[in-house]
Order: sequence, then C-alpha cells, then structure tokens
Amino acid sequence: MVVANPTLRGEIDEIMPGVIADRRHLHENPELGFQEFKTAKFVAERLEAMGVEDIRTGIAITGVTGLIHGAKPGTGPVVLVRADMDALPILEENDVEYRSKTDGTMHACGHDAHTSMLLGIARILMNRRNEFSGTVKLLFQPAEEGGGGARVMIDEGALEDPHVDYVFGQHVAQQSPIGMLECRGGPAMAAADRFSIVIQGKGGHGAQPHLCIDPISVGAQIVTALQTIVGREIDPVDKAVVTVGAFNAGEASNVIPDTAELRGTLRSFSPEVREHIGRRVGEIAAGVAQSMGATVAYEYNPGYPSTVNDPGMATLVREIASDVLGEENVSEGPLHMGAEDFSYFLEQRPGAFYFLGSANEARGLTWGHHHPRFDIDEASMAGGIEVMVQTVLRVMDGS
Ligand code: NI
Repeated sequence: MVVANPTLRGEIDEIMPGVIADRRHLHENPELGFQEFKTAKFVAERLEAMGVEDIRTGIAITGVTGLIHGAKPGTGPVVLVRADMDALPILEENDVEYRSKTDGTMHACGHDAHTSMLLGIARILMNRRNEFSGTVKLLFQPAEEGGGGARVMIDEGALEDPHVDYVFGQHVAQQSPIGMLECRGGPAMAAADRFSIVIQGKGGHGAQPHLCIDPISVGAQIVTALQTIVGREIDPVDKAVVTVGAFNAGEASNVIPDTAELRGTLRSFSPEVREHIGRRVGEIAAGVAQSMGATVAYEYNPGYPSTVNDPGMATLVREIASDVLGEENVSEGPLHMGAEDFSYFLEQRPGAFYFLGSANEARGLTWGHHHPRFDIDEASMAGGIEVMVQTVLRVMDGS
C-alpha cells in the first residue's frame, strides 16, 4: 500500500515555478527531430548544475543521459526514466507570452512538458538519494515524432553501461482533464506501419479502354479488396486498421494513365496481426493486379512497434497514481491506435508508459495534440512528477 507523502508534494510545489519556467523556455525555443541542439545543451546544463553524474551528450545526435546514484546501502536496480525533446513543423496559433519564437516549429505534442518534468524529477531524486539504493538513468531523446530517436539511442547503447532493468515514460494527454491518469497493462498503443503500391498498367486514350490496362480501375479493386483483410482475415477480438490514405493517378479526363499509386497506414497490436496485414496487403494487391493484367510494386515500411506495458508495472503505476490523484481519477484507459517510439524501450525491458491528463476546459485548454492551438494546463506537471518519483522509489526498493 502506498501512503500519501505530504513532504514530497510540498517539495514538488516548491520546484513547480522552475519546472513551468523550463517548460516555457522550451516551448519558446522548439526544435525538430535530431536537431534539438539548443534543447540538449539546456538539458545538459541543468543536469550538471544539479550534480547529476556521468552526463553524456550527442547520443543519437542530440540525446542526453545522466545518472543519479542512490546513497542508501544495498544494491538496487537501474531504472530509466525517459522524456522526448522534439517539436513539430506547425505554425503556432496561440497568443501566449511563451509562444514559439520559431515560426513554423512548435511544441504541439507536449514534449516540452515531458522534458521539463524529467528535469523536475531529477531535482527531487537528487534531493532524495538517501532513500534509494539503485541508480536512476535519466534519458532525454530526440525525434519521437517519426524519426524513431528511441531506436537510435538504444542502438547506440543507451540501455547499457549501466545495464537498465526497468523503463518508464509519460505523455501529457489533452483527451483527459488535469488530475486524471491512464495506464494500461499489456498492449496500450498500436504499431504503425506504412505501405505504398505502385500499379503498372498501360495508358492510352480514354475512349479506347480495350487497348489499355487501366491502373485506376485496378487500384479501385485493390482498395476494396484490402478492406477484407480486417473484415475477413483478422480474429474479431483482435484490432487492426488498414487505411489507404492516398490514391494518386491521372491528369486528364480523357486519358488512361500508365500508373497509379496507393499509399496507406497499417495499425495493429500483436506481432502476429502486424506480420499478417503487412504481408497480405502486398499479396492481395499483386493478386488483384495480376487478375486484371497489371503488375504492382509493393513497398512496406515498418514504423514503431506496439507499445506494450508490463502488466505488473502498469498496476504499480495505477496504485501509486490512485494515491496521488485519487482512485476515481485513475484507469487503464482505452487502447490507442496512435503509436509512440517508447515502444522500443518496452520491447527491451519491462516498464510502463502512462498518459497524464493535461486538459482544462474552464481555461480553454482543450485543443488536441498536433493542433496549432495545442497547450496544456501546466499545473498537471506536478502530478506527473509525483507519480514518476514515487514509481521510481517503489521500483528501487521494492517496498
Ligand atoms: Ni508526443
């Protein structure tokens, strides 16, 4: 049973003005994936000023890690806490004093909040080194928004030296009000893969279809046939999406073009379903095309895998969050069809990723992620820091 820790809350309240100032500084100075040079420098300087040890920079171009060694006698595990640092190519439409100073680049997903929360978590854990006997690895990663910065950091050794035992991360969530928290055991977010199908037909005059192989009608048949994958081939209790998001062909009303191109996204939760839909899209496209005298070139680009929380660690997070935020405000939450590259860490080590409610309807802070008016209720960050600190301390001492 977790007991409320009034001292911890008091300590967090004391550092919150600094956490909010950091978040606003980062919000004003957003940088895109793998270009977070100023952000990384800011983070490293903060960590150094706190006395965090073994600060390493330049991992995956702009990634930063640092260690906090517990001072309590004994040997505890190494617990990694991760924040992402990248912004998005969006022109901010918020009229706030901390508006992005770089037109066309904006922290519209809350990664500025993740970074400043992790700096706050580091400060609290530095003050509480006597309370644990393991090591906290702080990890600030580049390029979550499509670049897979997590993957690159792992490839460059971020989970070793010292060997990481558990991994945790959090994401602010505009679909939930401030004070709420969602953490789901098992699969929580989808794998997201992309595909393209180029159909090679035979162009000609629009009035002479019999002399042509029309790639547009082939494409139309393929789009329809692809919908049978989820409807007819996937176990109804599993979840998957096959979406054709682009269908490009032709220029003129009286010309049959040579080629047509389809592009789409595939979402799934289990590795088996992921493999199945990725393979079947290509097979069905080739089969349909062949039956109509055309050929296809199929390209499959795997994206982030499904984000799968360790059930025990997810339960632990919910227990702690229930104590911090109130039981009625904590749940498993829905499955998300969106993807997140923290999944790469969870593929390698047990841990959990949770959603921290950050919307506030009364203050008009309800715009969704990746919207030009996205903004969070900054007070939500106190709860995120408290839940993460308590989680780390609990995992360290198994208490
Ligand atoms: Ni995000």
